[in-house]
Amino acid sequence: MPFSKNALKVLESRYLRRNLKGELAETPDELFMRVAKAVAEAELAWGTHSEAEKWQAIFYESMKNLLFLPNSPTLMNAGTSLNQLSACFVLPIEDNLDSIFTTLKNAAMIQQSGGGTGFNFSQLRPKNDLISVTGGEASGPVSFMKVFNCATEHVKHGGKRRGANMGILKVDHPDIEEFVVSKTDEKALNNFNISVGITDKFMQAVEKDETWELIHPNSKSIIKTIKAKDLWRLIIENAWSSGDPGLVFLDTINAGNPLLPLGKIECTNPCGEVPLLPYESCNLGSINLSKFVEQEGRKNIINFTKLGSTIEMAIRFLDNVIEVNHYLLPQTKTIVTANRKIGLGIMGWADLLIMLELPYDSNEAISLAHQVMKFFKEKSLEASVQLAKERGVFKNWEKSIFYPNIKLRHATRLSIAPTGTISIIADTSSSIEPLFAVAYRRSHVLDGNILSEINPLFIDYLKKNKLYSEGLMDEVKETGYLQHIKQIPAATKNVFKTALEISPDWHLKHQVVFQRYVDNAVSKTINLAETASVSDISEIYLNAWKQKTKGITIFRYNSKNKQVLEKGISS
Ligand code: CDP
Repeated sequence: MPFSKNALKVLESRYLRRNLKGELAETPDELFMRVAKAVAEAELAWGTHSEAEKWQAIFYESMKNLLFLPNSPTLMNAGTSLNQLSACFVLPIEDNLDSIFTTLKNAAMIQQSGGGTGFNFSQLRPKNDLISVTGGEASGPVSFMKVFNCATEHVKHGGKRRGANMGILKVDHPDIEEFVVSKTDEKALNNFNISVGITDKFMQAVEKDETWELIHPNSKSIIKTIKAKDLWRLIIENAWSSGDPGLVFLDTINAGNPLLPLGKIECTNPCGEVPLLPYESCNLGSINLSKFVEQEGRKNIINFTKLGSTIEMAIRFLDNVIEVNHYLLPQTKTIVTANRKIGLGIMGWADLLIMLELPYDSNEAISLAHQVMKFFKEKSLEASVQLAKERGVFKNWEKSIFYPNIKLRHATRLSIAPTGTISIIADTSSSIEPLFAVAYRRSHVLDGNILSEINPLFIDYLKKNKLYSEGLMDEVKETGYLQHIKQIPAATKNVFKTALEISPDWHLKHQVVFQRYVDNAVSKTINLAETASVSDISEIYLNAWKQKTKGITIFRYNSKNKQVLEKGISS
């Protein structure tokens, strides 16, 4: 089995089943067999036993060889009594205690099963508003977010995974200023990513330096008028100091909403890659691009034939997941089986670029992204059309933008997830992110355990080019990057540029080009050097809106005490 040391650590600590005594009860091989079997069982609704067995073998091979991995809950739960397989959920919150606490309970159950939850708190009346039943004053959205945060802290994802939440508040909610500063105290909402729900109208008001009205969500009366630019400044100053809030661009999201008659989308899952309607969930899976590189003569190339059949297989796999999934909530079952949203994405993008010796910050990398993602878009559509022929279109198809021309089985098909843990299992770079460092420590992933790595592709590259020496490795370990090391040639330095050495423009260019082909959204962090200014962030956020990303998240190095990745491993 081709597992790295880190992959084995992660598998053992979180994914492999254990018996009642807490001892390991399966091997990685058995894990993939369990998942393949559980997912292939869906085939029986349409085909014979031998067909189900054929697909089971295909699913197993592709996971075992790390070509494709489904999201963590599928790996953890498929074929177990829990069998909750989705990573992403959005739950509604209406302006009454019953709705708030029903959703809190539902979120707790989802998080216990390994899923992440997104909420838009904008329907809640503002702080200090009147509560008619009691005559008292309302607590407001931020205060309820703290209750959700606290619940997450104690649920801890079934002991396997820390809970993740997305909290969104619309930019015209009267409590928006309190929301924007709500993560200044790092501990206050430590289990939340927060994003401001931005409208085009607000962005235009910022550009024209106009006033901006904060509106009561129920009465629609104007509660306060502020300058749009002042709110913008508050947002970017907080993003500068803590990484939060990010932005979600609600109008861009709804311009691409395939099912507008069902309602506007107002929320995303925790990492932002899937905009969803209330109660929808989404199953993700990611193809490991570094496994599709082959040598042709003296050059490395992508094997598109193998990639095409893997995309087709992955769409079928995710369709099957919808069939065999155990839905914790009846509302989720109804809407998920009617819309059949899935999110196939990629991991290993940076590794692929390295293997092709293309710098991340190059036009060649961007053209390759166009080529690869156009291929993903076309192949995933073909696969969904084919499944619609075999198994029928999704139930709400007639309400969708695809009616009557394209008979599809899935309302959405692609999504770029962060692949935080599955990329460790696959031993490749995460999602579409550049290398964070050539040598790094990854902490907090396993609740305290620290994983250390020197990028194996870097070691291979040095050996191939006769540049390898122990002394050099020590130097690299010291800082985690290469630019200051004299004996490393410029071309090598360009190929191994790390996230903070790549300018924010190039980070954003990648997000923009991937978004162009992806019908859900792209989860990406625009990494910034510690020295980046507030106006740098303003420019990135503004450009992201103009270039039609569905959301934007930045992270300035060292702006949080507890960061997941740290450069260098010798300290
Ligand atoms: O690699 P893995 O499948 O574990 O997850 P990911 O691609 O890093 O994240 C995909 C989605 O899983 C996130 O957007 C969240 O919805 C959910 N997630 C979560 O609920 N809790 C976590 N600790 C990590 C991810």
